[in-house]
Amino acid sequence: MPKTFFITTPIYYVNDAPHLGHAYTTIACDVMARHLKLLGNKVKFLTGTDEHGQKIEKSATNAGKNPLEFVNEVAQKFQALVNFEGSENILNVTNDDFIRTTENRHIKAAQKFWKTLEENGYIYKGNYNGWYSVRDEAYYQESELIDGKAPTGAEVVWLEEESYFFKLSAFEEKLLNFYTQNPNVIYPESRVNEVISFIKGGLKDLSISRTNITWGIKVPNAPKHVMYVWIDALVNYLTACNYIDENSAEFKNFWNDATIIHVIGKDILRFHAIYWPAFLMAANLKLPNKIVSNGWWTIEGQKMSKSLGNVISPKELIDEFALEQVRFAIFREMAFGSDGNFSKALIKNRINTELANNFGNLVQRSISMLEKYYNLIVPAHPHFDDGDFDEKTFQLLTFAYKIGLDENFFINKISNFEYQQGLEELLKVSSKANEYIEDLKPWKLFKEDAKKCSLVIYTLLEVIRVISIAFQSFTPNTSGKILDCLNVAKESRSYKNANANFAIKVGTQIQKPGILFQKME
Ligand code: MSP
Repeated sequence: MPKTFFITTPIYYVNDAPHLGHAYTTIACDVMARHLKLLGNKVKFLTGTDEHGQKIEKSATNAGKNPLEFVNEVAQKFQALVNFEGSENILNVTNDDFIRTTENRHIKAAQKFWKTLEENGYIYKGNYNGWYSVRDEAYYQESELIDGKAPTGAEVVWLEEESYFFKLSAFEEKLLNFYTQNPNVIYPESRVNEVISFIKGGLKDLSISRTNITWGIKVPNAPKHVMYVWIDALVNYLTACNYIDENSAEFKNFWNDATIIHVIGKDILRFHAIYWPAFLMAANLKLPNKIVSNGWWTIEGQKMSKSLGNVISPKELIDEFALEQVRFAIFREMAFGSDGNFSKALIKNRINTELANNFGNLVQRSISMLEKYYNLIVPAHPHFDDGDFDEKTFQLLTFAYKIGLDENFFINKISNFEYQQGLEELLKVSSKANEYIEDLKPWKLFKEDAKKCSLVIYTLLEVIRVISIAFQSFTPNTSGKILDCLNVAKESRSYKNANANFAIKVGTQIQKPGILFQKME
């Protein structure tokens, strides 16, 4: 039986157009979704937009539009990046659904969720007096403020309003037990303590409704109140699993029985690792299995911000560097979970040294030799058990087949979101294959030792085949193109095929792939 996974991106605020930070998380999830499928699992992959709250209301007003008109426009820019009917799918992402919190299905789900919390005795009415940051859409305690601002540097305003509260304080013990028993839920591990100390610092009941804004989902039976945008937003994950019908196959398969992975940025860990599990406990629902938080990009050493004019648009980035190059380079450049600095020079360098000069070059050289010596037909060659099987060949093939055979070499690294290291292993295999060419000099062998020459060329094709299989989650189109050229059947492109049992057959007609990764000037 295949396992099922439900993987989600944060839903993005539509106060402004998408930028590199959004694209990064979305692609990270896409890599994971593709990877899990290559392992034979069933995956549901969700992304979408967070469209309510004061921040959006304010942006709409500033743009001179009514909120609905405004969010409809901006949501389209996010939809253009991913898989959505009629969209360009600029990032080539395989999401199965795109949720908008202004959709009816979500409004219904959020109201159902609210009623459940209420019925279970976790909501009460009171008055909120305290600080609020519209930019962060977050409440802050006096003690958290630094120089009169939120710890994030955002402006805060004093709020006094009637509000419904969620009994977050009732979950201190339960959350602590949960994370003590399941410390692996939070990744990277370095963030577990942050969450635990926040809980230990004491959890106050959380204000979950607003009366001085109207752009939100109405609280059931209290039309003056709209839901606090975070309770509304978090429920999106349930909505998309058809929570409105908890007996449905969709809800059972992708919520109750699935491994749930939320990928988020480090800034929104508190909402996902504290509020969300507490809400779910209060509703008697299953908790997420993994909360993965990625680091933040700075741009040429500075915070990315509109006022600095250094916001990187995903579309422009891809127009300049090409999609698959970007999908590869961003994960090479920044270790998942850590912060990273973005600079065009660094990206260019990754593309040139690791894709063009290393892997791209390996493919070009190997297939050119196959053309020159064997007319693009895979030659007969000595076998592993033949006496004259070359030691270096044996070493290279054994190393390359580790990709499919030794889970800890590549596969588990990707499963653990260690993309930077996983890719590094693939590049090592590719470098080794390039060295092998230099060492064995097929152009000499062709004249002096025909048998060995065929072995070398054959070995190179095999190495290219397994690397291409492994690269598929990052560079799906280029890998697909190489595997097409090698005549590898679509159903033979899983990790389980990355070994000698599925080796390319003698006599196979190969095609030339053309330039794979253009070198950048
Ligand atoms: N709407 C909330 C999430 C609700 S999820 C139920 C939100 N939206 S956001 O648009 O502000 O941010 C979305 C994601 O983008 C966050 O995970 C955030 O960490 C990420 N990033 C924003 N700027 C970033 C960088 N500079 N670098 C990397 N990721 C960044 O928060």
